[in-house]
Amino acid sequence: MSGDQVFIFDTTLRDGEQSPGVSLNVDEKLEIAKQLARLGVDVIEAGFPVTSQGDFQAVQTIAREVRGVAVAGLARTNFADIDRAWEAVQYADQARIHTFIATSDIHMQHKLRMTREQVIQAAVDGVKHACKYTDDVEFSAEDASRSDMGFLCQVLEAAIAAGATTINIPDTVGYATPQEWGKFIRTIRQQVKGIEKAIVSVHCHDDLGLAVANSLAAVAEGARQVEGAVNGIGERAGNASLEEVIMSLRTRRDFYHLGTRVNTKEIYRTSKLVSNMTGMAVQPNKAIVGKNAFAHESGIHQDGVLKERTTYEIMNPVMVGITYGNIVLGKHSGRHAFKDRLAQLGYVLDGEDLNKAFTRFKDMADKKKEITDHDLEAIIEEEILSVPATYELTYLHISSGSTVVPTATIGLRHCDEVIEEASCGNGPVDAICKTVDKITGISCRLVSWGINAVTSGKDAIGDVNLKITADGKRIYSGRGVSTDILEASARGYVSAVNKMIYEKNNGRR
Ligand code: KIV
Ligand code: ZN
Repeated sequence: MSGDQVFIFDTTLRDGEQSPGVSLNVDEKLEIAKQLARLGVDVIEAGFPVTSQGDFQAVQTIAREVRGVAVAGLARTNFADIDRAWEAVQYADQARIHTFIATSDIHMQHKLRMTREQVIQAAVDGVKHACKYTDDVEFSAEDASRSDMGFLCQVLEAAIAAGATTINIPDTVGYATPQEWGKFIRTIRQQVKGIEKAIVSVHCHDDLGLAVANSLAAVAEGARQVEGAVNGIGERAGNASLEEVIMSLRTRRDFYHLGTRVNTKEIYRTSKLVSNMTGMAVQPNKAIVGKNAFAHESGIHQDGVLKERTTYEIMNPVMVGITYGNIVLGKHSGRHAFKDRLAQLGYVLDGEDLNKAFTRFKDMADKKKEITDHDLEAIIEEEILSVPATYELTYLHISSGSTVVPTATIGLRHCDEVIEEASCGNGPVDAICKTVDKITGISCRLVSWGINAVTSGKDAIGDVNLKITADGKRIYSGRGVSTDILEASARGYVSAVNKMIYEKNNGRR
């Protein structure tokens, strides 16, 4: 282990997936895991295998198919959880079992109903059991930040003696402050016997907006693994945003004197993929990956940047993979130019995928003079990075206005046949949803609907993100892009229905 490296533990697929309204299928998780491997994280926590068959399958698929990275499965300290976690992760290049139990009085009394002695015993038994399977065992003391320090040190010491190689200290409820958290980690490193045998890790939540600051304060005090999620998603206010942690260490290397093995040029693409697949939009002013993170609005700033970029930019956007060039494609652009530009953006397409994307591009270029890189990304994310389409939108006609009942007429292609239906609704989007339901025979409820402009201008592409449910429990996100926001809504709705069908058929159309 090199002392000047910080290991990046990504929990986008486990804690991140615990974000309200987020639910990813196996294919989506695999796609994200492959991108995380390209990004160069050290550990992918792929899920909590005992919680559902879907989670188990996702962890197992990732462990089998994603190489060059450690894959972790979460487990409580009971043996059934640990056995199931091992069953799922065993095929990984490096298989990690991550076992946890709460150590704060609040959690022990009210949630676990266990005494301190019982908790120490459970931690030791769990770690020892996990060590029978793998020598890569991580132990977490849930709610560590609100635990009694003396007791916490006792638990950690026992877990290390039982064989844990990574000791994770979570601020489960996002209660800590940076100075206090730095001191907390320092005390643990000073007081826990055997601590030098383990990597000290932190896992900070963002309830007070301090998750990244707390993670960095811990790193300054010797923590060498940081857990977090892409775009900072996760339970409640989320986890530490990994791209912010990584770029802080990179940009302020002069201060931390530490590095990661992450390829920062993959950050932007990873962020886009996660936001697209989870349906969780990134706020425009989000550090590192927000739409405005490198945009300069005021005249003074623009003037400064034009004279010398570093006047107002501490990072070069190219470093995080934002490479918008001057080439703008339009309706006269050929297949070759289209394919080349996509390759420069990191999407290598051939065959059927290229045909599909090119047709969609031509279609859009007829309505919009200039197709920018942002537009191209939106096309690819909707057309190529989604599940296979059981239904495809072929046409849409909307009649709407202040004096007419909104009506949608829609044609969807299904098994080489175009099925047409029409319905009225409370508004045009409602009419679209009802019409699609009529065609598919699945009655869904629209849980949320939101729109962003991909680029600026009157002919900007509208990017609709929506969520639907059929049973009131499982939620599916969908995304559609078009210069016409109603068409984007229809595309988004159909893509969410396709996901639902795909999952119900266990990954078949
Ligand atoms: O927030 C937390 O404490 C967790 C643990 C399971 C690591 O997510
Ligand atoms: Zn957590």
